[in-house]
Amino acid sequence: MAAAITSVAGYLPEDRLTNKDLEKMVDTSDEWIRTRTGIEERRILKDPTKATSDMGAEAVRALCSKSGLDPTDIDLIVCATVTPDMLFPSTANLIGHKVGATKAWGFDLSAACSGFLFALKTAAQFVENGTAKNVVVVGADKMSSIVDYTDRTTCVLFGDAAAAVLLQNDEGDCGILDSQLYSDGSGGDYLCMPAGGSLRPSSHETVDAKQHFIFQDGQPVFKAAVTKMADVSYEIMQRNNLTADDVAWLVPHQANLRIIDATQRRTGVPKDKVMINIQKYGNTTAATIPLCLHDWESQLTRGDNLILAAFGGGFTWGSVYVKWAYDGKK
Ligand code: ACO
Repeated sequence: MAAAITSVAGYLPEDRLTNKDLEKMVDTSDEWIRTRTGIEERRILKDPTKATSDMGAEAVRALCSKSGLDPTDIDLIVCATVTPDMLFPSTANLIGHKVGATKAWGFDLSAACSGFLFALKTAAQFVENGTAKNVVVVGADKMSSIVDYTDRTTCVLFGDAAAAVLLQNDEGDCGILDSQLYSDGSGGDYLCMPAGGSLRPSSHETVDAKQHFIFQDGQPVFKAAVTKMADVSYEIMQRNNLTADDVAWLVPHQANLRIIDATQRRTGVPKDKVMINIQKYGNTTAATIPLCLHDWESQLTRGDNLILAAFGGGFTWGSVYVKWAYDGKK
């Protein structure tokens, strides 16, 4: 059995936060943000009553409607997120409830910006071993809920979004063919949300110290990301005897255009074969890669070789080799 992506859908909140808007909020400039990150605007889920599960549910509803899948036929939902609605129950559970996936079980997976790839690899195994037929993998993050909009070093980077893919058995040779994933906890301190867990439970002190927001020491994260995302993409291409000419699309996590460029150069994949939408959405953490697949779906054809790559907090990083299973132009 081979697990293949057979449909993809995305959800973006309507409200846009532009670089010009951020110029009015913190000491920054459109020019700095564009040249250092490539970002021009991001989407923000402004409704205070809505959470990550609401965006995830929108994406899964769209996925079901376009693929003709009845929500009651979903066997499993895996949700990659670092902004769950709450610590428990899991956001996957809440999404399942909201879309009417009454026969599904589910769980959340926490691997920051690599979350979608970790979830894809994990979820694929249930299709491959025959214990599930219809598996939904969601990447969803309401990053605005953990961003400090007075901190110019992080608030310019992130946006909110969700996207989902459907995994089903492929009778041919398409699907998730190979993966290489890594974790290194020694990088944990450089990019984290310091409080709210069992180490530093929420208190007046943690709130006063702004420890419920993203903390990032940007330069060490940048240095690690720039080499590791490029190296692992190259590694997986080598292992599968893929040259740059064999790769139809490089699908990188969208954290910073300079990190994407480094991966493009290392793999040798031409620039026009790299999916880039960071300018429109910023870093939406677990949602970036499935959102790219969603944006480029109409250009994908069965048999296309895709190299997915990510680096994120943890540190976590990895690459997944996907042979695309359907023609996007339907
Ligand atoms: N506007 C203007 N100036 C700024 C801003 C801003 N928004 N942010 C920082 N600066 C200033 C800094 O204060 C510093 O000023 P100083 O020299 O006077 O001290 C100067 O710009 C340079 O700062 P750097 O941190 O060196 O800037 P850098 O070029 O490294 O870019 C960035 C910062 C964009 C955050 C970069 O380090 C980066 O992309 N890091 C990696 C992000 C990443 O990949 N994260 C992983 C995924 S996220 C996840 O897993 C949830």
